Amino acid sequence: MDKNIRMMLNKKTHHTTKNVEQTEQIGYALADSLLSDGRKRTFVALFGDMGVGKTAFSRGFTARISPAAAVRSPTYTIVNEYHGGIFPVFHFDMYRITDEDDLYSTGYWEYLAKDGYCLCEWSENIPYALPEAYIKVVISKSPDNTENRIITIEPVLHQDN
Ligand SMILES: Nc1ncnc2c1ncn2[C@@H]1O[C@H](COP(=O)(O)OP(=O)(O)OP(=O)(O)O)[C@@H](O)[C@H]1O
Ligand SMILES: [Mg+2]
Repeated sequence: MDKNIRMMLNKKTHHTTKNVEQTEQIGYALADSLLSDGRKRTFVALFGDMGVGKTAFSRGFTARISPAAAVRSPTYTIVNEYHGGIFPVFHFDMYRITDEDDLYSTGYWEYLAKDGYCLCEWSENIPYALPEAYIKVVISKSPDNTENRIITIEPVLHQDN
C-alpha cells in the first residue's frame, strides 16, 4: 500500500482508482490526513451505489486507525465497532434503515457523541441525521465501463439537510 498519498482536507478533491487496493489506499490516506490534523473524532459520510467500493474504502480507512481490525460489511448488524487502535472506529451501514425510529434503535445518536471516527455507508438513507460537520465521500463507477472508480472527498460544514 502506498502510504504517502497526500490529501487536502480543506477543499473538494477528486481521485480515480483502478482497482480495490487503490480505493483502500484513498481511504487510508484520508484517515492519515485526519490524524495529522489532530482530530479525535470525525464523521465520514459515504455515498454511492451498491457494490461501488464503500466497504473497500472503509477497510483502508480503518487500517490506518485500527490496524488489527477485521473490517466486514455491517449490512446486517448496522454497526461494527473496531477497538484497540488509535481511536475507536464505528462503521455503519444504513442500507436497511428506513426511518428515524429504526435509526434511533441502532444507538446512532450515542455513537455520535463519542470520541472516535464514524464511517457511514449509505448516508443517502439518513440525510436528516448527518452531523453539522462531516467529510462527504462520493464513490461512483467510471462511465468508461472499466473497473475504475471516481471518488470525491469534500468537507461539509453547517449544511441544512
Ligand atoms: N476501483 C475499485 N475500487 C473499489 N472496488 C472495486 C474497484 N474495482 C472493482 N472493485 C470491486 O467492487 C466491489 C466493491 O465492494 P464493496 O463491498 O466495497 O462495495 P460497497 O459499496 O460497500 O457495496 P454495498 O453497497 O453492498 O455496501 C468489490 O468486489 C471490488 O473488488
Ligand atoms: Mg458496503
